[in-house]
Amino acid sequence: MIEQEKEKKMINDSRRGFLKSAAIGSALVVGAEMSPIAAAFADEIPKVTYTGGYKAGTAVQELELLDLVEIEQRAAKVIPKGGFGYIAGGAGDEWTLRENRAAFERKQITPRVLTGKGAVDLRAEILGISIASPIIVCPMGGQGLAHVTAEAGMAMGAAAGNTIMALSTVSTLSMEQVAAAAGGPKWFQLYLQTDDGVNRDLLRRAKAAGYKAIVLTVDSTATGNREADARNNFTFPLPFGNLVGKGSGGNIHALNASFAQKIDAKAIEFVLTESGLPVIVKGISSPDDALLAIRAGASAIQISNHGGRQLDGSPATFTVLPAVAKAVDRKVPIILDSGIRRGQDVFKALASGADIVGLGRPAYYGLALGGWKGVHSVLKFLNRELSMVMQLAGAQTVEDIKRTNLA
Ligand SMILES: Cc1cc2nc3c(=O)[nH]c(=O)nc-3n(C[C@H](O)[C@H](O)[C@H](O)COP(=O)(O)O)c2cc1C
Repeated sequence: MIEQEKEKKMINDSRRGFLKSAAIGSALVVGAEMSPIAAAFADEIPKVTYTGGYKAGTAVQELELLDLVEIEQRAAKVIPKGGFGYIAGGAGDEWTLRENRAAFERKQITPRVLTGKGAVDLRAEILGISIASPIIVCPMGGQGLAHVTAEAGMAMGAAAGNTIMALSTVSTLSMEQVAAAAGGPKWFQLYLQTDDGVNRDLLRRAKAAGYKAIVLTVDSTATGNREADARNNFTFPLPFGNLVGKGSGGNIHALNASFAQKIDAKAIEFVLTESGLPVIVKGISSPDDALLAIRAGASAIQISNHGGRQLDGSPATFTVLPAVAKAVDRKVPIILDSGIRRGQDVFKALASGADIVGLGRPAYYGLALGGWKGVHSVLKFLNRELSMVMQLAGAQTVEDIKRTNLA
């Protein structure tokens, strides 16, 4: 059997495995795992070459997961200390990092056990793309820090899970390498650069490589004070594939200096015009910013505080969600990220005004521990938890969740 067919067979086998294990009681979980494979893998998966002694995960394996909290400590054993600190850390006192989790704990889901509802259907849709469940993978930089297949592994894992992967501007592999590695829907995340020539070039390349939307991150006009990086004296051990030859090299400070230091409605209009793609504005916490972004032409809003990595002391995304959702008033879809670790969190976010959630660090850890299969395992696990929660809360579909009132 040729290599590509083997990979396809492996994905289909693992999908069947998920279907079996996703059956809760007598109920069947309906998700895109039932559909034929959406995305083929490339014959050859690109791999990162490490220099200077840095060494990340190489295993490609399914993961037995207990929850998506403990996976962090497992990943710490595979990712070198500096890289792990960069990934796991938050800004300042890490209050917002903790609060992203704590906020979910202050709301409860009331069990609904006599609705007579059985089969749970996780399927969702965002900007015309059908996905297995309302969970997508957030853009995260430098994934070579975690695994030798870097963003190619992440893209394959997301494709295997039939969901969207957003690729960071500061990815280890280039957007063309990632697009070639795996089919499946992808968005390109843009950190606006001070040089509009560079911005135009990145947007043109993203469109040419088949990325379906631009995620414009607007919460990073300054970099949060990530103390773990200072303590570990962390410098990026790898170049950034999209920016090779564009000045910053591997130096994170030089790179940060090349990021635009002010972003406004005009910047959103620029990205829209230059890309000709839908624009998702990521990093929103305030209703006023949400409205500004929509007026400038945003097709979706991503409520995010960058996983507590930017403005420490800012509220949890789950805390600001109801007010932002009220202002947005269903004009555009809302994606929420930061702190999603459990099926309960996904449920609570959707019941409070989000349409889709974005998963950050747990996907990164899945990549470290098991390459594309690890990412797929993480997605399957969260889908399974979500389907259990839906079953116990009497919600059959994603739309049912959105109609649920939390206690
Ligand atoms: C290691 C790491 C790198 C990140 N890099 C980017 C990035 O390049 N662009 C971006 O928009 N967000 C980036 N983020 C933020 C994520 O997109 C997302 O908002 C956050 O991780 C969600 O929080 P969670 O990790 O608690 O799930 C990064 C997050 C982490 C953990």
